Amino acid sequence: DADAGQAYFDHVMAEDSRIEPRDWMPDAYRRTLVRQISQHAHSEIIGMQPEANWISRAPSLKRKAILMAKVQDEAGHGLYLYSAAETLGTSRDEMMGQLVAGKARYSSIFNYPTVTWADMGAIGWMVDGAAICNQVPLCRASYGPYGRAMVRVCKEESFHQRQGFEILLELANGNPAQKQMAQDAVNRWYAPSLMMFGPPDDDSPNSKQSMAWNIKRFSNDELRSRFVGMMAEQVRVLGLSLPDPEVRFNEDTKTWEHGPLDWEEFKQVLAGRGPCNAQRLERRRQAHDDGGWVREAATAYAAKMAAKNEA
Ligand code: ACO
Repeated sequence: DADAGQAYFDHVMAEDSRIEPRDWMPDAYRRTLVRQISQHAHSEIIGMQPEANWISRAPSLKRKAILMAKVQDEAGHGLYLYSAAETLGTSRDEMMGQLVAGKARYSSIFNYPTVTWADMGAIGWMVDGAAICNQVPLCRASYGPYGRAMVRVCKEESFHQRQGFEILLELANGNPAQKQMAQDAVNRWYAPSLMMFGPPDDDSPNSKQSMAWNIKRFSNDELRSRFVGMMAEQVRVLGLSLPDPEVRFNEDTKTWEHGPLDWEEFKQVLAGRGPCNAQRLERRRQAHDDGGWVREAATAYAAKMAAKNEA
């Protein structure tokens, strides 16, 4: 019954242990997980687009093979995550329906355009770097299927980050125009990648409860600050700079600080008015429609096999 379920759930939370799909859980916990995991899955799927944009224009066969592998990995991440969300009782069709209807959120970052090859480097280094910072703690999320999916995702993200860093390193050590292209990409992706961590803590309605439920382990601002520190160190190896003169390590608080971010822009992107929101959704709808025949064929085949088994 619900009382025994609640007592077990509270015990699991207090022990910092795991909830599995068949365990009793509060409705609000289930809803929060479906919200976060489905948003995360959508982000992986929509996130394929800005990079797929460069597959046909990669500067060499080697770069093309690496980029294709990376974009395919993102599709895989989406699939692990939809599977994890399905264990909570929401079907993939329903989640996909919300996405193509424009009713679901996905990460703000994927609504920015990829205008040069150097953006492939900046996305790998900064966007996937931010994803790792955010997702390593999620490997310990209290919901078993989500935490386990994150372990695999994080391993692959590490490879993605290194390949991005290496693209930037090569450009930064190239001719002056190539170095400038790398710097411009870092400048473009810096603020949007910091915004990936979500609104500031005093404007983050879900954080407190998600932390109490051991889903989130650190606040949005804590992770953002950690990420800034990582980039501040690594950008020196690249011989480039971050477009933020206020980045510094505060010796008193022992945390990294950065300059102000344009939260109005963030709100606009979340409201669907970012530079590429319309294009991303349109492309997703088109891909969904184009795949209709596969779903039809699979359904017909399943019906045929079921009929055969009955006979
Ligand atoms: N882009 C779009 N929406 C965002 C973003 C963002 N960068 N950050 C926060 N939001 C939304 C939240 O989803 C929430 O909206 P909702 O209540 O309608 O669902 C609202 O802004 C308020 O934010 P928070 O209260 O801080 O929400 P939450 O506690 O869920 O924290 C966070 C947001 C940190 C993104 C969390 O959901 C998370 O860790 N998610 C998993 C990681 C993820 O989705 N990464 C996707 C990008 S990485 C990649 O795919 C490569």
